[in-house]
Amino acid sequence: MAKQVIIGSDHAGFSLKELIVAELIKGGYDVHDMGPATAESCDYPLFAQKVCEKVLQDDVQGILICGTGIGMSMAANRISGIRAALCTNEFHAKATRQHNNANVLCLGERVTGPGVAIELAKLFLETKFEGGRHQRRIDLFDSSKA
Ligand code: RB5
Repeated sequence: MAKQVIIGSDHAGFSLKELIVAELIKGGYDVHDMGPATAESCDYPLFAQKVCEKVLQDDVQGILICGTGIGMSMAANRISGIRAALCTNEFHAKATRQHNNANVLCLGERVTGPGVAIELAKLFLETKFEGGRHQRRIDLFDSSKA
């Protein structure tokens, strides 16, 4: 069965979203595009919420894109159960899967070029969480002992 990916952006991430959607479909992913449908100005927290709700509901990975990636990562990380990582290089994308079990990748269209962004998306989706001591640390996120 094709691996499901949930994606969303704001207007500043719209072009990159369209590119990544096309690339992931080509790569055989089952892509759920939560919008927006046009590059008209919109509010990124609304799309962060939509994508994150579906990521949690279906227990899959998501991608959020805005101009910097920062607003999307801030909005996404307010939602319990979401571990969103703003990545700008391959080490980020790989390590945040291996160590943080990140379930949402955030990208900045005004920061990261399309070729690199597509590579980061693929790497993020293909890299497995290592578990073990890393799971113990993630468990501390919501613990009063942290
Ligand atoms: C939109 O202009 C821009 O503020 C938004 O895409 C994002 O970069 C916010 O963090």
